[in-house]
Amino acid sequence: MKFLKNLTTTLFILLLAACGGVPEKKESTSTEEMKFSVAQVLEVVSKENDITRTLYTKAIVGAGKKQGLKFDEDWQKEDVEAGPLPALFLRGIANDIRKSETPLGLYLGSDFPINKANKFEGKQAELFTKIKSDRKPQHFYDENQKVYTAMFADVAGAAACVSCHNKHEQTTKTDWKLGDVMGATTWQYPADSLSYATTMEILKAYRNGTKAVYEDYLKEIAAFKTSEKPEIGDKWPSAGGLYLPTPEVFLDSVTELASYETMTVLLK
Ligand code: HEC
Repeated sequence: MKFLKNLTTTLFILLLAACGGVPEKKESTSTEEMKFSVAQVLEVVSKENDITRTLYTKAIVGAGKKQGLKFDEDWQKEDVEAGPLPALFLRGIANDIRKSETPLGLYLGSDFPINKANKFEGKQAELFTKIKSDRKPQHFYDENQKVYTAMFADVAGAAACVSCHNKHEQTTKTDWKLGDVMGATTWQYPADSLSYATTMEILKAYRNGTKAVYEDYLKEIAAFKTSEKPEIGDKWPSAGGLYLPTPEVFLDSVTELASYETMTVLLK
């Protein structure tokens, strides 16, 4: 399995390389013609998102808390010395993508949200009830916003998801269980089919978003006045100390975990 993962990582990197600066030869035309459906591409980026979010929740928030790191919804306030909660990590990625040239929209919603602004409405609320019963992705064209939309279940994959939501003072539901569909990520894109190059741009915009938020977190740490600062390098908190990986180490791990699934969907 490890070998398979390394192999797919290599293939994935080759694929990325092939799609960046392709010289204007005949081959580049054929690359442009290779089209993916918007549903396929949103599925790939949503898998990347699941992997990034789970890695952050378990390996940084979960393991980091055990070493004394703090995470808070007010992490960006000046007097709070903490890192972003998983949902805010995702919001940070979404905001960074919004600032980029890639017209990809990303939201995290629920029927029982902590934050009222995250409550699904209209068509999305209707489709979310389906997602809760069969956990299958939902795809539709949003006539009002003129975007192709895909929704994917957001499952309580770590004990931390459940305990934090159940205990939160603004929670609207106190009996979440591990494995529950707690919400859904909604993804939007204005075109229905995409070239290889555009597909890679979207994946890159997502990765850049991850990098930006993670770097914001490290900047926050650099400005800590009273809390002990973790050592930033190639170690993770699971090594048993106040450690955090560098953005490169964090993203390498995402690449390794995601590339197999990404390849699988793109080669479908
Ligand atoms: C330490 C607390 C904490 C942890 C851990 C946590 N969340 Fe949240 N979550 C929050 C808060 C606070 C919000 C609201 C953030 C905002 O203002 O939008 C939120 C928002 C959400 C939302 C959007 C709807 C809502 O409730 O506002 C979903 C869905 C969600 N979280 C699912 C999860 C899942 C799944 C996990 C685990 C992978 C997780 N959360 C881990 C605190 C937490």
